[in-house]
Amino acid sequence: MNPKTAELWAKQDQHQGDRFRLFSAVAAAVDAKTVFYPGCYVDIAPSFVFGSVTYLDLDKRTPKFFADVDGVAEIIANHDGPDVHEVKFIHGDYAAGVDLPDEHFDLLVSLYAGFISEHCGRHLKVGGVLLVNPSHGDAAMASIDPRFELSGVVKSSQGGYGMSVKDLDTYLVPKKPQEITVDSLHKWGRGIGYTKSPFAYLFTRVV
Ligand SMILES: C[S@@+](CC[C@H](N)C(=O)[O-])C[C@H]1O[C@@H](n2cnc3c(N)ncnc32)[C@H](O)[C@@H]1O
Repeated sequence: MNPKTAELWAKQDQHQGDRFRLFSAVAAAVDAKTVFYPGCYVDIAPSFVFGSVTYLDLDKRTPKFFADVDGVAEIIANHDGPDVHEVKFIHGDYAAGVDLPDEHFDLLVSLYAGFISEHCGRHLKVGGVLLVNPSHGDAAMASIDPRFELSGVVKSSQGGYGMSVKDLDTYLVPKKPQEITVDSLHKWGRGIGYTKSPFAYLFTRVV
């Protein structure tokens, strides 16, 4: 393995196994064969549990990381995942339009990387699932997007993750009454304060 690959992964995985635990919990709840992860940086944890993952990022360190195919495969092989691994990487800007088919993926991942649901939701199958955390406002963006319906929440406790589908109507309730629109979310560029704060949300694409 290229030493730089090892270094970048060690830094990414500083809370050791945290993302492995997250994606294992997601895989237990979502039957996904194909996954799209824009704004991934070097987080290859989805490949520990999902067979085919397409990663995308514009950071200049990421092409070299993913070009170390053997190194990346070695990191993945250290985890007890599916036998077939397809790891694809695109170096690019997801907001500029991505040359991937529409309605193609079973799972779209949006973690700390901006308005991915807005720009890349089209690549998710109808019936597919968006995993999104609230930090950059993308959970709020999905919550006002008619293509998406809240279908679960991801809760974290004591370093582990669990899914819940209970009382979903009690989530995404702003602490302060405010009008949430696409324009206001773009302007704020950050998440909304909600009365409940799970780690992330699952939205199903319904149209
Ligand atoms: C804070 S990091 C999060 C990385 C990873 N999702 C995680 O949770 O560990 C945000 C990443 O999103 C990428 N990013 C932000 N905007 C992007 C865009 N428009 N197109 C592609 N990548 C983008 C950045 O380059 C960076 O690697």
